[in-house]
Amino acid sequence: MPETPHPAAPPAADSASEQPSAPEPGEAGDPHAGLRGRPLRSFVLRAGRLGTGQQRALADLGPQYLLPYAPRPLDLDAVFGRHAPRVLEIGFGMGDATAQVAAAQPGTDFIGIEVHQPGVGAMLKHIGALPLSNVRLLQHDAVEVLAHMIPPGALTGVHIWFPDPWHKKRHNKRRLIQPDFVAALITRLAPGGYLHAATDWQPYAEQMLAVMNAEPGLVNTAGSGYAPKPDWRPLTKFEDRGLKLGHGVWDLLFHRI
Ligand SMILES: C[S@@+](CC[C@H](N)C(=O)[O-])C[C@H]1O[C@@H](n2cnc3c(N)ncnc32)[C@H](O)[C@@H]1O
Repeated sequence: MPETPHPAAPPAADSASEQPSAPEPGEAGDPHAGLRGRPLRSFVLRAGRLGTGQQRALADLGPQYLLPYAPRPLDLDAVFGRHAPRVLEIGFGMGDATAQVAAAQPGTDFIGIEVHQPGVGAMLKHIGALPLSNVRLLQHDAVEVLAHMIPPGALTGVHIWFPDPWHKKRHNKRRLIQPDFVAALITRLAPGGYLHAATDWQPYAEQMLAVMNAEPGLVNTAGSGYAPKPDWRPLTKFEDRGLKLGHGVWDLLFHRI
């Protein structure tokens, strides 16, 4: 996972993802300067050391399970070699929760998107170890993957678990869950498909709730409030760190009308 998670101290200070030294996209030093098309990204790529196991997994399993980014729609039946319900996860981190869910639901295909290479390597290790045949990964900005690679109505579910909170007010605009993004995302859901988000940062939870409640294509499964944590959602690494810092957790579960 990138060095974006919780700070070691309680978050009166902001997370590493909020460091003022982080270059804005397009600024000198922006590591993603070649990837234009969106004014602000929801992540900052930082150098992360690849473990030897992650390196080996990338070399051995990457060719089979890591899909190259290309700005054209995927033929998902061809990718998975079957027709099945499909769930997309944005920002799987090190993939521990993703692997648990995919192992528990072998009849569903999972598309995991993560920009941080050590996380992709770690998830490939899970794929090899369990093993999992119902998972494919993409190492690219999920906003672009959704716009260009996922066909309309192709998904039965979307998971956005503990997206980078971007604590500082001036960075709030980098948050993934914004009205335009949610409106674009739900076009990829089949009718009745679900959008499940969770966060441990209350101001972001409130933003998520306001954005999703206001989206006319979505219906809140919990009236107008937060949902109980579904039994099938595992504890994630980021959530665990948040709980240890005394944070609360807010789940949101909506269906596409
Ligand atoms: C705070 S971490 C949470 C990881 C994991 N879901 C967990 O709960 O442990 C958020 C993750 O989202 C990834 N991320 C943020 N924006 C992204 C984007 N636009 N596309 C793909 N991944 C993204 C980051 O690299 C980071 O690993």
